[in-house]
Amino acid sequence: MVSQLSIRDLEQIDAGIRDKYKKVAAAPGGHFRYPTGRDGLKGLQYDNQLIGDLPDAVADSFCGVGNPFSLGEIPAGAQVLDIGCGAGVDALLAAKLVGVSGRVLGLDLTEEMVQNANKNKKAVSAGNVDFQVGGIQKLSGMEGRFDVVISNGVFNLIPDKEATLQSVYRLLKPGGRLFMADQFASQALSKDLKDRVATWFQGEGGAVPEMEFLAALKRVGFVDVERVSETGFNSSPKTIGLLVRARKLDAEEQTSQTPQKIDVPYTLPESRSLPAPQTVTIDDMATRALEMGAKKAKVIDTDSVAIEKWVKWKCIYGCPMYGKNGYHPPMTPEIDEVREVMGEYSRAILLSGEEGQLLTEIAWRLEGEAYHKGFYKAFALTALSMGTGPATGAGSPGST
Ligand SMILES: C[S@@+](CC[C@H](N)C(=O)[O-])C[C@H]1O[C@@H](n2cnc3c(N)ncnc32)[C@H](O)[C@@H]1O
Repeated sequence: MVSQLSIRDLEQIDAGIRDKYKKVAAAPGGHFRYPTGRDGLKGLQYDNQLIGDLPDAVADSFCGVGNPFSLGEIPAGAQVLDIGCGAGVDALLAAKLVGVSGRVLGLDLTEEMVQNANKNKKAVSAGNVDFQVGGIQKLSGMEGRFDVVISNGVFNLIPDKEATLQSVYRLLKPGGRLFMADQFASQALSKDLKDRVATWFQGEGGAVPEMEFLAALKRVGFVDVERVSETGFNSSPKTIGLLVRARKLDAEEQTSQTPQKIDVPYTLPESRSLPAPQTVTIDDMATRALEMGAKKAKVIDTDSVAIEKWVKWKCIYGCPMYGKNGYHPPMTPEIDEVREVMGEYSRAILLSGEEGQLLTEIAWRLEGEAYHKGFYKAFALTALSMGTGPATGAGSPGST
């Protein structure tokens, strides 16, 4: 979604966030539709024991939209990252849970918020928490460091949510968890992101539908992706507050899920610099597919491709490969996303052959060659059918 925003829009969003949260840092009340401060913490059912001894000045600086601590345990000794920590209330509560053997890092884009967080840290004499000004990109070099990442009311403000989720994934240790509360679009918002810049800072314009966000979490590699419950708080009539959690694969799962490398010879074009200008047609690329070993290669209009739910149901309810690896549901893209991808293209090359794995390899090679010949948007999609009936077509166990 970020691609529709110009650099100017992104700068406007960035400046708008800092400007709004500078004001919130000066006086937290009155900026949101939902209760903030101690009323907010109580309304979101933060554990009384956890928040009981927070000084009022600290509790009053809370402006989160949910209770990430309700999503799972943060054990003693854990390393925790709070993205968009604001004045640091959640980070300080996490610091209490992890104890002296653990450590918490709070990050926030707004300098005044981080100043407040440091004041709050002093007020509760927490020695195991640090606050830094900035976004998640600041943390390169800290990959695999954190057991838990929390965030509260921040993702809706981030333009490139998927890139941020990728960073979160890298920063987590294997088996690490993401606990988050946020605002999601509950009804259609303008498709044009530029229209949405105006309402971005009210927690509306940057909100995406929950399905879109959950799909992005899965694409990034998270497992056990769960929309746990509604928070009951929303920042706009067009949004809904949700609690979401997800887990990074642990080391053992990562090894067993790594797709096998297929040893098919592939020579890169001589120049790996800029792709050559387009000198070939899509029909030439279809011929290349045959040379690479596809049995049939046909240029088709993408309009003629039916993308229907039943294809996925066949896998969910009948395919022995369901859930076995990243090439099969539930880890494959959502139907709506496949439709969206297809909508970006007018023509495609439909490949068929005897052996699914080989066809997939041909599709990858074709995508690479097409890119280097100037088809910059070239994209390989594979559908490996295991069932019978309309998904496969007689004598065509794999199509790409
Ligand atoms: C609704 S407030 C929530 C603050 C805090 N999590 C809490 O619960 O009190 C959102 C915070 O996210 C910060 N923020 C927005 N975009 C950010 C980004 N890309 N990286 C880090 N912080 C960001 C804002 O400065 C603001 O302090």
